[in-house]
Amino acid sequence: MPRPSRISTLFAGPRQFFFALFLLLAAAPLTAQVDQALYDQGQKIFKGNCASCHKVDKKMTGPALQGARARWEGKGDIYAWIRNSTAYLKTGNAYANQIFAEYNKSVMTPMALTDAEIDAVLYFADNYAPPAPAGGTTPVAAPVGGPQTAPAWPWLLIVALLFAIVWMSLRGVKNQLRSAVSEAEGHGPVANETWWVSLKGWAWRNKAWASVISLLILSYLVVQLWNWAFVIGVYGGDQVQHYKPSQPIAFNHTLHAGKDNLNINCQYCHNSAEKSKHAGIPTANVCMNCHQAVNVGRSEAGTAEIQKIYAATGWDAENNRYTGVEKPIMWNKVHNLPDHVYFSHATHVAVGKIECQKCHGPIDEKMDVAEQWAPLTMGWCIQCHGETEVQMAGNGYYDEVHRRLKENPIGQRELRKYLEDEKITVKELGGWECAKCHY
Ligand code: HEC
Ligand code: HEC
Ligand code: HEC
Ligand code: HEC
Ligand code: HEC
Ligand code: HEC
Repeated sequence: MPRPSRISTLFAGPRQFFFALFLLLAAAPLTAQVDQALYDQGQKIFKGNCASCHKVDKKMTGPALQGARARWEGKGDIYAWIRNSTAYLKTGNAYANQIFAEYNKSVMTPMALTDAEIDAVLYFADNYAPPAPAGGTTPVAAPVGGPQTAPAWPWLLIVALLFAIVWMSLRGVKNQLRSAVSEAEGHGPVANETWWVSLKGWAWRNKAWASVISLLILSYLVVQLWNWAFVIGVYGGDQVQHYKPSQPIAFNHTLHAGKDNLNINCQYCHNSAEKSKHAGIPTANVCMNCHQAVNVGRSEAGTAEIQKIYAATGWDAENNRYTGVEKPIMWNKVHNLPDHVYFSHATHVAVGKIECQKCHGPIDEKMDVAEQWAPLTMGWCIQCHGETEVQMAGNGYYDEVHRRLKENPIGQRELRKYLEDEKITVKELGGWECAKCHY
């Protein structure tokens, strides 16, 4: 009886490890099997033609597109429906008429799409993966560094797991052998060494290795602790990344500022970004520059939203005149630094020549509702100041600094050296000084 049970204790641990490892490895190819080209094509068509009424995974003006193909299976021609739903309704198809009634008889815009293009959209919808949240072990890096490379820690973890398995199996075998020898010599089985005792034994015998490994682990922990303190812990916690309040009018940046859409310049609306601390939120009059004429949206819901601009400005669309009764739009603030922090758009946009998207993310590409994309923690500000070079060439402000330094170079050796190779980070100009950012 004791023999089989001993063998099973030898394998119980490692087998579970192997199983977990297998699951881990099996999960990876599953997510990689999506045909990326088709998916991207579908996503593009979706954004350009469908996104104003549909979401992939939620109801909006129309149903969620995910699973639509399956829902139509055997009930009708989904291609004909998407190309011209009004015409298709006239065929008397039961399912089409049922959803049409269900969605309050909203009409879908007719669209000249090929079967292949419709296949791409439906493929995209069925394989839709929501954008991964920025983050990982060092969330500060995400907004600044552009596309993230996959973190190395999962691989380190796998390697560590493999080592653990090998080590534990070896230890099991060793214990078994010792027991067997002991039994053969007539002493009866010996108690197994605990892992801790055998680890201590190993460390004692291999002091050099043991110290190198402990040192590595220790420095890793210190770095992690440092990052944590800067990013989430000690400094900042007030800021809510991805905060996305609802707004009184469904204003859509993707539609207005997106390159594939209306492509309106950010500063057409946020026109004080270059000259003052605040970028500014446009008044409804700015909207009226276009919306006095544009009174129809992409859907009924969009049209109703445009009516709210008229209500705010007191525009009487029927008689083409202002009534004088205004009701300002109360936009909800998305970003909100604490009062003890000084931040100026002019410094970053006009002097630093930093693109809005560097700090506000792809607001013009994939945010139907404006959200706080960057963490806005102190660690985030500091990190960028540490790695961003100040834009010197052709920058009027620094041309002036250069001129003054040339006139009076005494005592400015360090600074002059920097200016000569024209490489200098914000940090080196004092961008890490507490008083620069704190009142
Ligand atoms: C103007 C708004 C609008 C646009 C644009 C639009 N749809 Fe629709 N769609 C709807 C509405 C509303 C419904 C619900 C049926 C109805 O009322 O006609 C619907 C229904 C559907 C359905 C049926 C879903 C189901 O659950 O059976 C599919 C499929 C569909 N749309 C695909 C598309 C595709 C693909 C595009 C882009 C190429 C698109 N739609 C663009 C408004 C729209
Ligand atoms: C580049 C700008 C910048 C610099 C330089 C900077 N800070 Fe901050 N600091 C911030 C921002 C932004 C916040 C707000 C973070 C938040 O609320 O999440 C902050 C918050 C803080 C807080 C409050 C923490 C909290 O949880 O509310 C303290 C304390 C602080 N900073 C101290 C310092 C000290 C000390 C220095 C100098 C060594 C310094 N800061 C330099 C930008 C900066
Ligand atoms: C047609 C006018 C218009 C254009 C163009 C526009 N915006 Fe906006 N923006 C608004 C309005 C209105 C709001 C307030 C409502 C909201 O938050 O969605 C806003 C809000 C924002 C906010 C959030 C403000 C807060 O409360 O913290 C950011 C950030 C922003 N815009 C950045 C941009 C950037 C970057 C661009 C260019 C890619 C841009 N905007 C283009 C009108 C515009
Ligand atoms: C430079 C011109 C321009 C400005 C400025 C502008 N819009 Fe628009 N907006 C448009 C056009 C064009 C459309 C219709 C797009 C379409 O149907 O494809 C539109 C559509 C809309 C819609 C309907 C969206 C939908 O899904 O149907 C809303 C709501 C809207 N705008 C709100 C605003 C608000 C609020 C402002 C001011 C902060 C504003 N717009 C400023 C040109 C503008
Ligand atoms: C270096 C980072 C950075 C850049 C570049 C930047 N912003 Fe901002 N933006 C912020 C921060 C931080 C806040 C929050 C400020 C606060 O709460 O005082 C903010 C707030 C805003 C707001 C709302 C409040 C306000 O200040 O009016 C708008 C609108 C906005 N930004 C638009 C823009 C536009 C448009 C551009 C490009 C022309 C831009 N931002 C460039 C970091 C940036
Ligand atoms: C994407 C990079 C980036 C981010 C993020 C960023 N900054 Fe900056 N910041 C710069 C650059 C570049 C300059 C230098 C502009 C110049 O003088 O050429 C600068 C300059 C400044 C200055 C003036 C420093 C001086 O020496 O006069 C202050 C103050 C400042 N930033 C505050 C902040 C605060 C507060 C935050 C976070 C809320 C922040 N910055 C986030 C890039 C950034």
